[in-house]
Amino acid sequence: MAKKHILIVPGDGIGQEVTAVGKKVLDKIAARFNHEFTYDEALIGHVAIEATGDPLPAESLEKMRNSDAVLFGAVGHPKYDNDPSAKVRPEQGLLKMRKELGLYANLRPIKLFDELLGASSIKPEILKGADILFFRELTGDIYFGEKGRKNNGDTAYDVAEYSRYEVQRIGRKAFDAARTRRKKLVSVDKANVLESSRLWREEIQKLALEYPDVEVEYQFVDATAMILIKEPTRFDVVVTANLFGDILTDEASQIAGSMGMLASASIGDGTGVYEPIHGSAHDITGKGLANPMASVLSAALLLDISFGLKEESEAIISAIDQVLKKGFRTRDIADKTTDPSMILGTDAIGEEILKLL
Ligand code: IPM
Ligand code: MN
Repeated sequence: MAKKHILIVPGDGIGQEVTAVGKKVLDKIAARFNHEFTYDEALIGHVAIEATGDPLPAESLEKMRNSDAVLFGAVGHPKYDNDPSAKVRPEQGLLKMRKELGLYANLRPIKLFDELLGASSIKPEILKGADILFFRELTGDIYFGEKGRKNNGDTAYDVAEYSRYEVQRIGRKAFDAARTRRKKLVSVDKANVLESSRLWREEIQKLALEYPDVEVEYQFVDATAMILIKEPTRFDVVVTANLFGDILTDEASQIAGSMGMLASASIGDGTGVYEPIHGSAHDITGKGLANPMASVLSAALLLDISFGLKEESEAIISAIDQVLKKGFRTRDIADKTTDPSMILGTDAIGEEILKLL
């Protein structure tokens, strides 16, 4: 029996709706496998700004540090997207959380459920068998380098920076994971142009000597963007910098049919944070339309990675698989062939998952 304290951090928009389903699934797992999970909640993002003026209040950070894992929703609000001059922004809360908790490795598994082969805009014969694990570096790069304005504010800059140490630690995680999978690693950079990418490549090449059993391929990010769509089955594990990883994983989400299916794990030195790769989606917030499966799959990653509860984690994945096999869909993964009566909202599909658990 495991006794664990889980912090629920719903954040903004559909983050609220989807983490509510994720939490119910965790509760069900606790009951079925006889574990004791306790919960608390904390604010981040726009809702935190509204309540406290701070996108990541000290109290939230403290609660994160003191929990065994965090189930996270999303941050963002359209109000800031159209106001580039806003000094305080929801995303700052997310970035600060990543930095403060030392969450340098963001794992984004791109796994296609068989039933969703037709939901993608990519041809099924190209997609079949695609199974990719992205390691996106999460606490460095252009996200965290010096930024500012010069020339009386008429020029702006963001510095992309990596240290050898930062590349090594994410590289090692990716190589270790490749060893447990199909032993293929693609390292993605822009070493033909960027100095930070040349250092990245040097360090991955050094690590490769320690992993002779892993086949390494080096790609420039523009080529990766193309190959992901042309030949997604060529990839096993992919390791890349923060910004490239951000962009490539949104692209790769289309392999899985929808952003609404993709979970992620952010891990580092302390508490792990588990979250959908999708954002706050204010266009559908409060309508009960959001696909909660990315949050439920994030809960599965949480159980596996932070608590070592493999069987429990697999029970969740299998429940989702069965719900899809039964023909249930949310709007984002439905296609022309879906019977409209099988298209369910957030809570209803959550109930179907819970029934199977
Ligand atoms: C993500 C998001 C964030 C990022 C935003 C909200 C700051 O797009 O988690 O992928 O760019 O990292
Ligand atoms: Mn993103």
